[in-house]
Amino acid sequence: MSELIDPALPKVELHLHLEGAASPAFIRGLAKEKGLDISGIFAEDGGYDYRDFWHFLEVYEAATSTLQSPEDFRRLVLAVLEDRAEDGVIYAETFVSPDFCGGGDLGAWREYLHAIEEAAEQAQNTMGITLKGVVTCIRHFGPEKARPIALCAAETKGDFITGFGIAGDEKMHHPKDFAWAFDCAREAGLRLTAHAGEWGGAQSVRDALDHLRPERIGHGVQAIDDLALVDRLAEDGIVLEVCPGSNVFLGVYPSFRDHPVDRLREREVKITLSTDDPPFFRTTLVQEYETLARTFGWTEADFRSINADALKAAFCDEATKRSLL
Ligand code: HPA
Ligand code: ZN
Repeated sequence: MSELIDPALPKVELHLHLEGAASPAFIRGLAKEKGLDISGIFAEDGGYDYRDFWHFLEVYEAATSTLQSPEDFRRLVLAVLEDRAEDGVIYAETFVSPDFCGGGDLGAWREYLHAIEEAAEQAQNTMGITLKGVVTCIRHFGPEKARPIALCAAETKGDFITGFGIAGDEKMHHPKDFAWAFDCAREAGLRLTAHAGEWGGAQSVRDALDHLRPERIGHGVQAIDDLALVDRLAEDGIVLEVCPGSNVFLGVYPSFRDHPVDRLREREVKITLSTDDPPFFRTTLVQEYETLARTFGWTEADFRSINADALKAAFCDEATKRSLL
């Protein structure tokens, strides 16, 4: 089949989990080096294997258990950015969780972060891709664990760490339980995003907006079930980090045809496009664009405009944005 969209189209990806972007081969290699048996997380074809979203989170954490040192993260960042650059990504923001980088200890986090930043700089020089980090607490680990994570974020805000967010199981705890962590990050000058409306419905998006006051929402697609909320997103300029292939793979929507991304756009909500955890959802950004073009008739001009919006909504400074235009 001929391509509808040039695969080399320069792309901006705002919603990418660092550990979730690790290929199965990379994780298998680390497991082998360390003598860890995580064979249960792989399918016969070598890809990640899980039953549903909650099992996905377990498999994700098992895969992440192979990442045990700053050096492992340095290698991870290089491998991930090589894949993202191949997908035409010129600028990416990645969620990175101190929970998986020293367990929330600030001293350990600084060491991991140093390795991550070094690798990002190397990738910038050799592959021409820019990476920024969004420190992310994990909802199902609970609000008490989120506090040291927010402090890690606040202490290391800088050229690389530009934002703070929350991921994980949206059905656990309430956004108000994380208000302290978000206030701490906001006061430090970090930009804010929150996963909501992937599994928790439109009300979960409302609650995240009311209690965490983020400028972007991770997913947010279930807002479509509440048109007053959709209008609020559009009017307030809240940007959605939409990951259609992730939603379809995990069964939030049965197909791209049923996915609300086109309807959200029609109602003037600012949407951006990302892969979330590409090897877990067996997707690439090139594949996402191609499927969206086929499903909704979106053209290269649509994707250029979506990428321009994504760059506007990026958490990096204006000089970095100008260098990418
Ligand atoms: N949703 C919520 N939490 C996550 C995800 C996701 O898609 N990926 C990694 N953590
Ligand atoms: Zn996500």
